[in-house]
Amino acid sequence: MTLAAEIGPMEMLSFLVGLLGLMFWVVISISGSPYGRYASASHGLPLPGKLAWVVQELPCLLVPLYVVTCTPAQRLSHWPNRILLAIFIIHYLQRSLIFPFLIRGGKPVPVFIFLLAFMFCTLNGYLQSEYLSNYAVYSDDWVKDPRFITGCSIWLIGMLINIYSDNILRNLRKPGETGYKIPRGGLFEYVTAANFSGEVIEWYGYALASWSFEGIAFALFTTCILSSRAKQHHRWYLEKFEDYPKLRKIIIPFIY
Ligand SMILES: NC(=O)c1ccc[n+]([C@@H]2O[C@H](COP(=O)([O-])OP(=O)(O)OC[C@H]3O[C@@H](n4cnc5c(N)ncnc54)[C@H](OP(=O)(O)O)[C@@H]3O)[C@@H](O)[C@H]2O)c1
Repeated sequence: MTLAAEIGPMEMLSFLVGLLGLMFWVVISISGSPYGRYASASHGLPLPGKLAWVVQELPCLLVPLYVVTCTPAQRLSHWPNRILLAIFIIHYLQRSLIFPFLIRGGKPVPVFIFLLAFMFCTLNGYLQSEYLSNYAVYSDDWVKDPRFITGCSIWLIGMLINIYSDNILRNLRKPGETGYKIPRGGLFEYVTAANFSGEVIEWYGYALASWSFEGIAFALFTTCILSSRAKQHHRWYLEKFEDYPKLRKIIIPFIY
């Protein structure tokens, strides 16, 4: 038996997602994350921010829609699979169809960042939805398992922190403003990147509830991307604002 046959296509894609996360972590740690406040003309053609966010995240809705309607999707007759896929879709309904329209004065997105995000969302949208629709085997009482209940609760808390924190950032600007201020309130009292903390918490909750390579690979990817960007934000605030709270950590309260 070949290694590929032993491991299976979903596990191989999960390794790819984890590996991409580690690669991006190295690249972002060395050369930075070139969108938002760090974007410049040298990063290539700028796309309108709202449009870029909608389109680049949309594959995480459209690919699951395709998988659910055009493949056997026999595992979706089970409640754990349905709930986990619903969790994934709820996040991306918010990220793709609500979040972009609330952005205030957001910067354009360089085309290559847009393309990378679009390709990753296509890959991950396929991985999570194909796994949950056609591969994942859970007993029906998995919904009563402490890992499932705790994981779903952590996912919900993470999503609320993420939405609340993005809302704090957005309200730092009056309509028409594009500058930056020190965020205050909520988890921002403890960390620079409270919105990223929420997002990372969300996907570890999902990973726990799904108890899968596929879930942990996505949580690892998110950690790599957002912890390196959070570190860049933290350095940036310390340089820009003399009165930036010195005790504030980067992304994990009291620790990092
Ligand atoms: N799962 C993943 O791998 C992943 C990857 C990337 C992002 N995300 C999520 O996508 C969302 C947006 O990410 P992001 O990287 O764009 O977040 P961000 O850098 O924190 O910016 C979020 C928004 O708030 C504005 N903003 C940030 N700090 C501000 C300040 N101090 N004063 C005024 N406005 C401020 C930004 O404006 P500007 O655009 O003008 O800077 C932008 O519109 C987050 O919820 C994040 O968790 C997830």
